[in-house]
Amino acid sequence: MINSISPLDADNSGILVFKDLHKRFGDIAVLKGVSGKLVPGQISAFVGPNGAGKTTLFQLLTGELKPDRGSATLNGQNILGSSPYRLAGRGIGKLFQDVRAFPNLSILDNVIVAIVARQSYRDKPFDFGLVRNGRSQVLAKKAREYLSRVGFDANEEALAKNLSWGNQKLLALARLLAGEFRCVFLDEPIAGISTLMANRMVPLIRELAEAGVAVALIEHEITFVESLANDVIVMNEGVVIDSGSASEVLSHAETREICLGL
Ligand SMILES: Nc1ncnc2c1ncn2[C@@H]1O[C@H](COP(=O)(O)OP(=O)(O)O)[C@@H](O)[C@H]1O
Ligand SMILES: [Mg+2]
Repeated sequence: MINSISPLDADNSGILVFKDLHKRFGDIAVLKGVSGKLVPGQISAFVGPNGAGKTTLFQLLTGELKPDRGSATLNGQNILGSSPYRLAGRGIGKLFQDVRAFPNLSILDNVIVAIVARQSYRDKPFDFGLVRNGRSQVLAKKAREYLSRVGFDANEEALAKNLSWGNQKLLALARLLAGEFRCVFLDEPIAGISTLMANRMVPLIRELAEAGVAVALIEHEITFVESLANDVIVMNEGVVIDSGSASEVLSHAETREICLGL
C-alpha cells in the first residue's frame, strides 16, 4: 500500500536537500509539501502524470521560481531566492524542456559561452565580448572536446537555430558538461528525440553521475527510468506518493496505475 510508505528521508546526507516545499499559482496548489534530496553520483528520477508538479519543483530548485514555503539547501547553505545565474555559479545546472541555446551563435560558440560562463559567473556578470574576442584556440579546442564527448557530428559553425531538435538537445548536453556542475536538473531530456539520439544521451547521463554529479531527471519513458535511475520519486497532484528503486515502486499497483495506466 502506498499510504504505508514513509515520505522521503530528507536528512542532511544529500548535497541538495529540500523540505516541505509549497507552491501555488493563484487558486491552484501545485506543490503541497514536497521533500527529498539529491545525492552525488546518483540519478534520482521524478515521475508522475502531467500536472503533478515535477517541472515546478525543478524550477524552485534552480532559481526560476520562489516557493511559498519550505527550505532547500546545497551543502547546508540556503539556495531559495537566489537567481538561476547565482545558482549556476554555485554548481547547479539544468537542461529544461526549452533547451535555450543562443539561436544566433554557432554550435562552437554556444559551447564556448558555457565554458566562459563557468569561469565568469562565480564573481562577475557574464560578458559576451569575452566570447567573441576570447575565441582563442584553447577555448575552441576545449569546446570541441565537449562536442565530441556527446558525439556531435554536425558542422560546428552552423547556427544553433538551424539544428534539428535532437541535435539541439545534444548541444544542450555539451553545454551542460562544459558547465562542470555538481548538481544537474534534466527535465525530459530525451522527450521528442529519435531512439538513435536517445541511445546516445542515456550513457552520457550515466557518465555525469559516474563523475560524481547529483543528477535529477524528469522522464516519462519508464524503460529509461529503469535503466538509469538509482532512486525513483513518484509525484501526483503536488505530493510525493512513492519512492524507492525502480523495481520497488513498479511493484506497487497504485504507482503502476498512476505512472503507466496499468
Ligand atoms: N507559471 C504557471 N502559472 C500557472 N500555473 C502553472 C504555472 N506553471 C505550472 N502551472 C500549473 O501547475 C501544475 C503543475 O505543472 P508542472 O509543474 O508543469 O507539472 P509536471 O511537470 O509534473 O507536468 C499544472 O496544473 C500547471 O498547469
Ligand atoms: Mg513538466
